[in-house]
Amino acid sequence: MCGIIGAVGRDDETLETLVHGLAKLEYRGYDSAGVALTGDGSGVDICKRAGEIDDLRESLETRSPSGAVGIGHTRWSTHGPPNDANAHPHKDCTGDVAVVHNGIIENYQSVRDELTTSGHTFRSDTDTEVVPHLIEEGLANGLDPEAAFREAVGRIEGSYAIAAVIAGEETIFAARNDSPLVLGLDNEIFYLASDVPAFRDFTDQVVYLADGEFARLDDDWTVTDADGTVLDKDVETVEWDPEETGKSGYDHYMLKEIHEQPRALRQCLRGRVDELGGSVDLGDLGDLSPTGVQFVACGTSYHAALYGAQLFEHAGVPAQAFLASEYAASPPPIGDALVIGVTQSGETADTLSALREASRRGARTLAVTNTVGSTAARECDHVFYIRAGPEIGVAATKTFASQQAALNLLTLATAGGDTRSVVPALRDLPGNVQALLDDSRAADIAEIYEDASSYFFIGRGYHYPVALEGALKMKEITYKHAEGFAAGELKHGPLALVTEDTPVFAIVTGDNEMATKTIGNVKEVEARDAPVVAVTDGQSDVERYADHVLRVPETHPRAAAVLANVQLQLVAYHVANRLGRSIDKPRNLAKSVTVE
Ligand code: F6R
Repeated sequence: MCGIIGAVGRDDETLETLVHGLAKLEYRGYDSAGVALTGDGSGVDICKRAGEIDDLRESLETRSPSGAVGIGHTRWSTHGPPNDANAHPHKDCTGDVAVVHNGIIENYQSVRDELTTSGHTFRSDTDTEVVPHLIEEGLANGLDPEAAFREAVGRIEGSYAIAAVIAGEETIFAARNDSPLVLGLDNEIFYLASDVPAFRDFTDQVVYLADGEFARLDDDWTVTDADGTVLDKDVETVEWDPEETGKSGYDHYMLKEIHEQPRALRQCLRGRVDELGGSVDLGDLGDLSPTGVQFVACGTSYHAALYGAQLFEHAGVPAQAFLASEYAASPPPIGDALVIGVTQSGETADTLSALREASRRGARTLAVTNTVGSTAARECDHVFYIRAGPEIGVAATKTFASQQAALNLLTLATAGGDTRSVVPALRDLPGNVQALLDDSRAADIAEIYEDASSYFFIGRGYHYPVALEGALKMKEITYKHAEGFAAGELKHGPLALVTEDTPVFAIVTGDNEMATKTIGNVKEVEARDAPVVAVTDGQSDVERYADHVLRVPETHPRAAAVLANVQLQLVAYHVANRLGRSIDKPRNLAKSVTVE
């Protein structure tokens, strides 16, 4: 996730403050970084680079921008690969305006086309670059800098936290919509950032901006609404220990990332579903029209692939999910199948190898990934980004939810389906996940069952991959035995393992034949004295046979599979936490597995 820092201070300190702030934002993940400074009567000086903060520092040793006013940025690519040109800040044609931005500008292509026609030259692939050019237009039309900034912001749609500096102005102009922005106040020095850690070493006095608000920092600070009315904002004191601020008050990145899921899902859906018409538009993905689909993936991403294969099958397109490491061993007939690699990192060796094998055999390939510019994104014929933002915890959480959402979009856009009922359910997902997070009993369940010898997870249909994923999460971070089963399979062998010491998590939503059959399986384990935790929306009578219930909001079955998984993430997290495990870095595991 991109990070923003800004400071209005003293000439000799601002650059150092910005670089310090960028280093503090490193935990969010990034692929490039840059700064822009300006001062009394001077132009805007930019230094930016793909790579790490240390690479930027190296560049700054030879060419140090100076000035009392500056903005800085760590970029996590969404539009265009991670390279120097795409790094922020971005400037206009004159070089007098510099802008940093977090979020996604949905209408950037039409604005860019319009600006190009009227003579502007673009130097990057980013959506952000339209903003400095829009400000330039306003200035050229005689607006004062603040009015030009406001007009530019008024032209864009989407999510943004934006900060701009303009030559000759010792001011930072900023605005936010659906992307965080916070001011830091330290006597005569003012800061602005996407996240408190960026300036927490300097001050604990903060002002949080709300959506639709604008800020102006110079020798004072002001926050205004969209009409320019000055707002009376509360100054708050942040209590966090600077060391812990990367986790925003959560004990672990995993828990933070579980709670980031509403936002990750919103980012995934943004600009891709038509709020009113209920249609799906994946922009420049191209015409895929698959007649058959083969998924290749590993681990959690494989579970998302199993879910995705069901989505395509329901849309009438034959689809199979393969463990990437097994794909080459028994290569399936490829025909004219579209081969889809699902990979958060885009760097998993097994998945890359399967994609290359598919490509060698003439298949079209598509990467569904979180990582812009990753090997999978570069090597595949097509790429579709899940936009979950960087995931620091080794255990995949928010990226799984975003993979599920992205695969729904992909299916609807390329194979069709019941858009009218699925799109509203997808749109409701962020809110439903939030409601579940606010009200989950997962911590109580973890307390009751932390000593169990094994955990079993069962589900049918869309809930089968979720059962597998629930078990994987439990294994990974608690180091305890856990297995996921298709509910109907339990009686074909695994039932022998079921005892009063093996809690069974049964995912049952809706009230239909599938729910009735899973309830039958629940009765089988209940008869063997196993405790049952029902993950349910309460539509069926599964609760009658369950010892405990984890509730999910009522919704479309596809969306219910996302929600049920969030409850299971929380159970695994709380069990692991009670056992004192190394949750963010479980033993023997790596975030990106680059060997076969
Ligand atoms: C589990 C987990 C792993 C990954 C797997 C594939 O929490 O994170 O199972 O899902 O290693 O990684 P990607 O998605 O990067 O290809």
